[in-house]
Amino acid sequence: MTTFRAYRIFEEDGKAASRFVDMQLDELDPGEVVIKVAYSSVNFKDALAATGAGKIIRRFPCNGGIDLSGTVEKSSDPRFKSGDAVIATSYDIGVSHDGGYAEYCRVPANWVVPMPAGLDTYSAMVLGTAGFTAGLAVARMEHEGLEPAKGPVIVDGATGGVGSVAVDILAGAGYNVVALTGKAAETDYLKKIGAAEVMLRSELDLAKIRPLGKETWAGAVDNLGGDVLSWIASTMKTGGALASIGLAASHEFKTTVMPFILRGVSLVGIDSVNAAMEVRENVWKRLASDLKPRHLDDMATTVSFDDLASVFGNILEAKAKGRTVVKIGG
Ligand SMILES: NC(=O)c1ccc[n+]([C@@H]2O[C@H](COP(=O)([O-])OP(=O)(O)OC[C@H]3O[C@@H](n4cnc5c(N)ncnc54)[C@H](OP(=O)(O)O)[C@@H]3O)[C@@H](O)[C@H]2O)c1
Repeated sequence: MTTFRAYRIFEEDGKAASRFVDMQLDELDPGEVVIKVAYSSVNFKDALAATGAGKIIRRFPCNGGIDLSGTVEKSSDPRFKSGDAVIATSYDIGVSHDGGYAEYCRVPANWVVPMPAGLDTYSAMVLGTAGFTAGLAVARMEHEGLEPAKGPVIVDGATGGVGSVAVDILAGAGYNVVALTGKAAETDYLKKIGAAEVMLRSELDLAKIRPLGKETWAGAVDNLGGDVLSWIASTMKTGGALASIGLAASHEFKTTVMPFILRGVSLVGIDSVNAAMEVRENVWKRLASDLKPRHLDDMATTVSFDDLASVFGNILEAKAKGRTVVKIGG
């Protein structure tokens, strides 16, 4: 019987309590595919879940980690065979189904994405849910007509995981990317990964947001919500596409119908958790080819499984930069 380590989130006295435990395969949630985990990652959602700062876990106890990559150990589904490199992200993983912070994971075959040519277990986790979400946002904005000739694309929360990958892949695809950040000290980093211009949130006047401001952005990737999202909506160009992804600042969004009915702006909602498998496989293939980031090494910090808990605080306090990869067995 294989015994392995897992970082498991319990509920104790009404609060989340996370710690390493020893487990056996038959204790994991069911599924057709057993994966030997090579790498996982730390998304904003993982930090909320493991610390209990957000009500993310829907079933206690649960192994954390919404992302994982690794190799198939065994599969009762003929689509996968032992040794195949695979990715599994979101669905219920790390939320109500044992996740990627464990040396082994067992998931339904319908949640497993074959590793696309051009990525490996490490680079797939530098991307992780954050990278997949950025790729999905670009694909959805393009579907609404976004192309480089239409004008600049703003990315906020730009030094974060979704933001960093979005800056990199948009710049690689030929877009003029303006990175909006709270971190003046990371200007060089943002320019290195592809931003043509860096704007500081402290420079914005968010006290007086008009229904329609100066037409500026052909596209926008919003990770923050709240006032920044309201300001972006009011400054979209005619025919622009605005992807709403996150709520790192606020879940509120105050706007008027003006940008949508007088400028034809498309508000594109991005939901990485429920993306259909066909969409998922296409986005991962693009992240391995025409949207492949060029600066993964600049945005990645790798931590050992033992040091996992040390990174949650920085992410919750918006001090982290880029993507955090967790080396499980990789
Ligand atoms: N819709 C989906 O399917 C989906 C998928 C993945 C993530 N998300 C959401 O997208 C957001 C970004 O995720 P992530 O993994 O990239 O997180 P992250 O790595 O923690 O980055 C978030 C970034 O947002 C900025 N920020 C954080 N707190 C802020 C605050 N209170 N006020 C203003 N700016 C703040 C910071 O960037 P700067 O300092 O550079 O401004 C921070 O680095 C989160 O809300 C996450 O839950 C949604």
